[in-house]
Order: sequence, then structure tokens, then C-alpha cells
Amino acid sequence: NGKYTVTLIPGDGIGPEISKAVEEIYDAAKVPIDWEPVDVTPSLINGITTIPKPAVDSIYKNTVALKGPLATPVGKGHQSLNLTLRRTLGLFANVRPCKSVEGYETPYQNVDTVLIRENTEGEYSGIEHVIVPGVVQSIKLITKKASTRVIKYAFEYARANNRPKVLVVHKCSIMKMSDGLFVKTAREVAKEYPDIELGFEILDNTALRLASDPSHFKSLVMVMPNLYGDILSDLSSGLIGGLGLTPSGNMGEKVAIFEAVHGSAPDIAGKGLANPTALLLSSCMMLRHMGLNPYGDKIESAVLKTIASSPANRTRDLKGTASTEHFTQAVISNL
Ligand code: IPM
Ligand code: MN
Repeated sequence: NGKYTVTLIPGDGIGPEISKAVEEIYDAAKVPIDWEPVDVTPSLINGITTIPKPAVDSIYKNTVALKGPLATPVGKGHQSLNLTLRRTLGLFANVRPCKSVEGYETPYQNVDTVLIRENTEGEYSGIEHVIVPGVVQSIKLITKKASTRVIKYAFEYARANNRPKVLVVHKCSIMKMSDGLFVKTAREVAKEYPDIELGFEILDNTALRLASDPSHFKSLVMVMPNLYGDILSDLSSGLIGGLGLTPSGNMGEKVAIFEAVHGSAPDIAGKGLANPTALLLSSCMMLRHMGLNPYGDKIESAVLKTIASSPANRTRDLKGTASTEHFTQAVISNL
């Protein structure tokens, strides 16, 4: 039924089950997409974790991919497969929105945050050395180039999504050079966006405010270096009920991969207990990215309506009793 083809990386553990749920719901909603499933099991080439060429080619050809959780292959020398994908494809901005799900109670209400994480460098550069036994060095690499493109992305996102402020989160009181460069770059980029307010906040203070009153983050977009974004996005996710509800998009110049941030949950894999919500909501971000907004809106509201309807329609991670298949059918009936 496809006008569009999208690469599908089903993933490990619960990945195939939650991907199947997405496929069933997309069929029922008549989304004009054909899936192109690919295998990303990497090989070690010259000590570097390498993704099979057919998978990379498929993503470049289709320009969008949906990805379930990936476990890093055991065996020595492998780098994280998730990071390898981001690096191989130049996915420089990781967009992580967290919105309260109505009907699913948490200690926080009406959370609506957007965090954009630099996705290619910082502490994730993988440059580490033993200097002498007992003394190691891990390098946090910050470049003006990567900082500029992610900060620009944050301003564009703010403008396109009616969030009139960009908040740059940093620790330049301590990381004077690296975070200093990130902050300085933000001031420069901001000159091109006079319609968007620019703010700065020290990392630990942002964490404190997110946990004490997330309502302050409603009309802004946070942007920050890689590791800070990793940590604060999990904190934000915790405000709405966890990673099972949190979508994300890894955006590059030419391609984008939308992924569930949660792990592959091998303990419950194959048992029909997994919650496909994070992958479904990520796929709705994907549909909007592709300009298929009506489908994205329709599926997202069916998912949210299902979660709100009753514990009988929620999976166990959301204190419900539904199996993956029951949840999937309930979403389909709410389309
Ligand atoms: C995430 C994950 C990854 C990260 C892991 C799986 C490498 O925690 O997407 O946030 O640290 O970026
Ligand atoms: Mn993380």
C-alpha cells in the first residue's frame, strides 16, 4: 500500500514484538508506507564495529528509519551498536520530547518538555587512554561545527513548534573551555533568530528545576552537550512515567532514525508483555517528519486514548494487565 518506503530495524529482545505491533497498527490505519526490514548485526572490521552495508544503504535510500532497541553484541572490542548507528549516519541532533499521558497518573501533571541533545561527540567520542597504570583519561571533545549544527537545529525546532525560547544547558563554570565553546556558539547562532529568546542555565540547576517544577519548561526547547542530554532526558522521561512512554528522533543532514530509547528487556522478550508505546510514539514523530501529519495525529491519539481508557488496556509496566497483542488491538479499535 506504499507511497513511501521506510527502513525498519526491529531490534533485539522485545524489539520484534513491538515492531510487529507498529506494523499491525499501520496496516489498520492504512498508512501509505512499506517497511523495509534490515539486519544491523555488526561485524568488527579493523577493530571498528561496522554495520552491514545493505542496512546503511537502505537508510540512505529511504532517508527515514524506525528502530527498536538494540543490544550491543557480546565479544570483545564491540562499541555500542546504538552509538555506531548515530555516528555512521551523522545523526547530530537527538530530539526527546516528554509529554504527560492523560489518564496515566504520575506525581507530575501536564509535563511538556523538549530536550535536544548533541548526538555525535562530547564524552561519547570514545577517546580514552591509560596514561600510566591507575591514571586514565577520557576526552570530552566539543567542536564548534557540531555545536553550531545542533544549536541551529534547536532554534529551528523552537520556531517551527511555537516554543519561543531556547534554553542552553551547560556547566561552563567548571568546563570552561568545552562548555564555554558551546555557550559562545549559542550566542552566535542566536543572532540569526531574533524572534526566539535565548537563555542559559547550569546543568545541576536544570535538574533541580525539572524535578521540582517541570511547568517552567513548557514553552521552551532545551539544548545541551551529549552526556548532559543523556542524563536529563531520562530525568524528563521519569516525570511522565518512564522510558516506555518516551519517543525520540535522531536527526541528520540527510537521514533520520526514530527510536524507542528503552532497552531490549531480554527478561520479558517473547512473552507478549512488552509495551509498544515508545516505538509507536516515535513512529508518530517520524510520520510528522515525513509530512504525514494526519496519520501521526490519528495513531498518537489512538495510543493515548487506549492508555487512558482502563488498566485492562495497559501493559504491565504501566500497572495494567494487557498483553502486547491486546493493547495493539485496543489501539486499532480506537483509530
Ligand atoms: C540513550 C541510551 C544510549 C546512550 C546507550 C544505549 C548507548 O542510553 O539513547 O539514551 O547512552 O545514548
Ligand atoms: Mn540514555
